[in-house]
Amino acid sequence: MKIAFVGKGGSGKTTLSSLFIRQLAAHEAPVVAVDADINQHLGAALGLDEEEAAALPAMGARLPLIKDYLRGTNPRIASAETMIKTTPPGLGSRLLRVREDNPVYAACARTVPLDGGAVRLMATGPFNESDLGVACYHSKVGAVELCLNHLVDGPDEYVVVDMTAGSDSFASGMFTRFDMTFLVAEPTRKGVSVYRQYKEYARDFGVALRVVGNKVQGAEDVAFLREEVGDDLLVTVGHSDWVRAMEKGRPSPFGQLEPANRAALEALREAADACYARRDWERYTRQMVHFHLRNAESWGNAKTGADLAAQIDPAFVLSENVSTVQPA
Ligand SMILES: Nc1ncnc2c1ncn2[C@@H]1O[C@H](COP(=O)(O)OP(=O)(O)OP(=O)(O)O)[C@@H](O)[C@H]1O
Ligand SMILES: [Mg+2]
Repeated sequence: MKIAFVGKGGSGKTTLSSLFIRQLAAHEAPVVAVDADINQHLGAALGLDEEEAAALPAMGARLPLIKDYLRGTNPRIASAETMIKTTPPGLGSRLLRVREDNPVYAACARTVPLDGGAVRLMATGPFNESDLGVACYHSKVGAVELCLNHLVDGPDEYVVVDMTAGSDSFASGMFTRFDMTFLVAEPTRKGVSVYRQYKEYARDFGVALRVVGNKVQGAEDVAFLREEVGDDLLVTVGHSDWVRAMEKGRPSPFGQLEPANRAALEALREAADACYARRDWERYTRQMVHFHLRNAESWGNAKTGADLAAQIDPAFVLSENVSTVQPA
């Protein structure tokens, strides 16, 4: 299951992603956690110290390796240089699975021990001053999109992505790559306006979107969210002393998280799991082709000097049991 946490800056995306990841790990589910936010804090929220978090390999810096591996022997993709973030897999491509070991994880993932087990953590890499504005941000997050488009995950396997709700994810198609998107919203006008914008984009693509209220202080806050987002409101989370203690550098075992917040996390898990029955690999593939054509036309063809539409393998549909092995 591919799950995204999005929302306005400071709403609690990283906090809720990390709690959700801990909840999954506590159930011994295999998890790949991905930090795709502009502010890279997921490692710290999962308990890494500053030095460990800073030592996480940056996916953005390993794009050539990622592309070369995923391209495999796909004859439609002439070189890693002509592969863009939306280039879809086809016969000859290599796919990723949550549980396996592969060169992409070897280069980009680190195992993070949690008190309920361990997860793999990948990070796009920090977005620093030296980055050339949005273009760099795009190419870093593009590494995640490329991986998602080559990933075949089953019902008890999870990829959890902590990301922003920025316009870049709409342009590229990234926002359509998830079985479930949790939009974290504080009970404020700004929190809700990000939801409206997301909902607008999501509508045409059948994106499953639920709102998780955060920093909710009472019945009035819940009523506000309910009025503004209606049935899209899945659950609300209040202030957590457990989270605050962790922020103070005095973490408690996950088992001591407040029962109400634990129940909220369980509701997230159930909502995510329920999406499996509605998963539609054909649509997933169709949408990746749609966004690839759009990106090819708007900048990809010009940038690579190639006709990127030719990268599309018309007969290929991604699925859990698809084979990309070319007939001899
Ligand atoms: N339910 C909560 N209880 C206590 N503190 C919380 C809660 N949710 C978030 N916080 C605190 O609020 C701050 C912002 O949360 P967080 O970093 O998760 O937001 P974010 O949406 O990821 O922000 P950014 O956009 O900067 O990445 C953090 O200090 C976090 O510890
Ligand atoms: Mg964050």
